Amino acid sequence: MALNFAWNGALLLSVYAYSDAPSKRDGSAPPPQPEPIEVAELPLPPALANTTEGACTVEVNPRGTGCIATSSLNSGNFASDGLHVAATATFVGAPPAPDPASIYTGVQLLLIKADGTTFPNGDTWKCITCGVPAENRVGAVDDLDQYPQTFSDGTRAMSGSNIIDCGTALLSSEDCTPNRTSIFPIRFSTTADDGSGAGTSIRELRLHPDNVHITFNSFLDTSSGLAEMAYFGRIKFNATASRYDLTNLPPALVVNGDELMFNRSAITVGELRGLTGTGKEVVYVGFPWESCNVDIFAADLATGAVRRITAHPEYADPIAVSPNDEWQVVLDTRGSGRMMFLAGLRSVPPITDLVTVGSVSSVRNNGVRRFFEPYLLDYEGDRGDYFGQKLNAAGDGAAGSINDPNWNTGADPRWSMDGTRVAYYQMLALPPACGGSNPLACETSPYSDLRAERVMVATFTSRKPLPVEPVSEASDEVPWGLKYTPGMEIPAAPKLPGGEFTLRAATSGYANVSIAYDPTDAYIETIAVTYHDYSEDGLSFVSGRENITVTPINATLNRLDWFADIVSTGAMNGTKLTSPDGFHMADDLNGNIFEANGTMVSTVDGVSWSQPCNAC
Ligand SMILES: *[C@@H]1O[C@H](CO)[C@@H](O)[C@H](O)[C@H]1NC(C)=O
Ligand SMILES: *[C@@H]1O[C@H](CO)[C@@H](O)[C@H](O)[C@H]1NC(C)=O
Ligand SMILES: *[C@@H]1O[C@H](CO)[C@@H](O)[C@H](O)[C@H]1NC(C)=O
Ligand SMILES: *[C@@H]1O[C@H](CO)[C@@H](O)[C@H](O)[C@H]1NC(C)=O
Ligand SMILES: *[C@@H]1O[C@H](CO)[C@@H](O)[C@H](O)[C@H]1NC(C)=O
Ligand SMILES: *[C@@H]1O[C@H](CO)[C@@H](O)[C@H](O)[C@H]1NC(C)=O
Ligand SMILES: *[C@@H]1O[C@H](CO)[C@@H](O)[C@H](O)[C@H]1NC(C)=O
Ligand SMILES: *[C@@H]1O[C@H](CO)[C@@H](O)[C@H](O)[C@H]1NC(C)=O
Ligand SMILES: *[C@@H]1O[C@H](CO)[C@@H](O)[C@H](O)[C@H]1NC(C)=O
Repeated sequence: MALNFAWNGALLLSVYAYSDAPSKRDGSAPPPQPEPIEVAELPLPPALANTTEGACTVEVNPRGTGCIATSSLNSGNFASDGLHVAATATFVGAPPAPDPASIYTGVQLLLIKADGTTFPNGDTWKCITCGVPAENRVGAVDDLDQYPQTFSDGTRAMSGSNIIDCGTALLSSEDCTPNRTSIFPIRFSTTADDGSGAGTSIRELRLHPDNVHITFNSFLDTSSGLAEMAYFGRIKFNATASRYDLTNLPPALVVNGDELMFNRSAITVGELRGLTGTGKEVVYVGFPWESCNVDIFAADLATGAVRRITAHPEYADPIAVSPNDEWQVVLDTRGSGRMMFLAGLRSVPPITDLVTVGSVSSVRNNGVRRFFEPYLLDYEGDRGDYFGQKLNAAGDGAAGSINDPNWNTGADPRWSMDGTRVAYYQMLALPPACGGSNPLACETSPYSDLRAERVMVATFTSRKPLPVEPVSEASDEVPWGLKYTPGMEIPAAPKLPGGEFTLRAATSGYANVSIAYDPTDAYIETIAVTYHDYSEDGLSFVSGRENITVTPINATLNRLDWFADIVSTGAMNGTKLTSPDGFHMADDLNGNIFEANGTMVSTVDGVSWSQPCNAC
């Protein structure tokens, strides 16, 4: 599939302009009433701030089964038995070999008990990969800490670009010993002779619920900068090479338009985030439908039909869809006010996003501090005044409480297969994201072992468990994708021409758009828009002007010189204004440290939203 975010200011986007297709989602269902949700914390291995060899003593862990670093955790899905949650953590402080506890070191996959019971040794967790002999992990990829997901047969898991396989033994069982466990790399072949070489690095792997397909993303260097491609494929065990290979990989082809038009039917994958509960759709962070408002979309694997799931002006990205597709939990900055200065004035068409989307997306975090909180949404997602239900809304907000805003949520949340629970993990904001010149004071971890991470389970106490049903195998073919064969040249995303254009709104009004490339014709340097009573919905009318000049600093960082003087009247009543000398912003896609000179303020119904302070 094609990437769609202009990660470096180079034009990699390809889909534009006015809508000729109605939204696939009619939004007519009344929003659900809030429901009772209880949030509890899962017991984890002891955390240890002292990472020196031997610091994980029998005083810290009497059973000699290891200690984890205070910040090292990712939780993943529920095992199909509903009794365990997959996680990864970095074990530290192990004694040297031949002490049997020496195996509890480094990044490892664990199962955590989710039902209040323990494993036979009395621990609430089991390290699955600790002590796996070297000959059982040849070629294992060192991204084991990414997105742990167990297979529904209980004998295998995927973590990072690895499959952890215990043969016929359940991972949770005593029969699954380190010697019976193997870690196989998943290899993405990109050479024409297929079998050769180490393959290409892949990321963001998500298991399809049919357990034979996965989705993933992979970076690609293009003539106009860094691109990210999205893939769907089958995993197939290659016993000869003891690895899993990806076959039948059709990247989605993105639509080209020779006019300036915004095509809401286009599948504009910025980054794939996995699949729905039934596996019928892929979910992804897509190109915005409203300026600066980054949202999650779904596209049907068979038909390519697109639907928008989130619409709140804050930033959404990770998502978990319930096994029956009726519900989703999204991680979103909504409630924090973080992104409102950029996107609070809704109904502005997404034109300047051609050059801003990467930098705008980067504002969501302050370095390692995320602002994500988990929200429950029904199938139709955000609409009208309905913006979902916060899972962890109850609580007194005190340090360490379930709704302490200093504890934010990491990707991914995950549903239990019976649809009654969602697991998610949280991280405490740490320096430099707090303290010093940052207005956010640092909070001392309220846990005696000073852990800065925790795994939470939200239970929907009024729901009846869904029957756990096997998911039928998805087709290998994605009709709207581009079939990938190893070694093929991935076609460049179509390039929007420079020039003067008119973008006509769906209902009334229009915008004049001027697009100018840099002298080498590599990227859009300046985009200028004048809005003339532009109205998509006949309810809000946008006027004013906006221009942005881009200066690429490197592959992941742009400087944006931004002038906005926009007013909306009608249902959406407000302004988006930059200071007279403009708003000058830089935010690295990798580092996520916001830096700006000048101001941008969005005012909606008399409420004003300002940017965060620099590096805050
Ligand atoms: C860290 O652990 C090592 C090994 O047990 C010990 O020698 C050292 O004193 C500990 N350091 C601190 C600051 O506790
Ligand atoms: C695991 O296998 C290794 C050889 O790879 C052997 O030395 C060791 O004794 C085995 N451990 C157990 C518990 O069977
Ligand atoms: C399995 O792996 C071997 C060794 O890398 C390779 O030569 C062979 O082509 C692979 N087989 C398939 C079916 O991909
Ligand atoms: C809009 O996107 C859809 C889905 O990719 C495509 O079928 C259609 O041709 C596009 N419309 C235009 C006008 O490009
Ligand atoms: C803006 O667009 C309108 C409608 O296409 C057109 O009549 C007008 O000339 C354009 N103005 C500029 C300055 O390009
Ligand atoms: C952008 O807008 C500002 C304020 O209206 C103006 O001074 C500046 O010349 C414009 N820049 C470009 C490149 O259009
Ligand atoms: C881009 O520049 C920033 C600021 O100098 C730097 O922190 C970052 O590491 C650079 N990134 C790359 C990919 O060169
Ligand atoms: C802000 O201004 C300072 C001082 O002139 C300059 O060093 C910095 O690059 C500017 N940053 C941005 C994002 O414009
Ligand atoms: C817009 O909001 C402002 C401030 O709340 C209010 O004074 C004004 O009457 C509103 N205008 C419309 C058209 O609703």
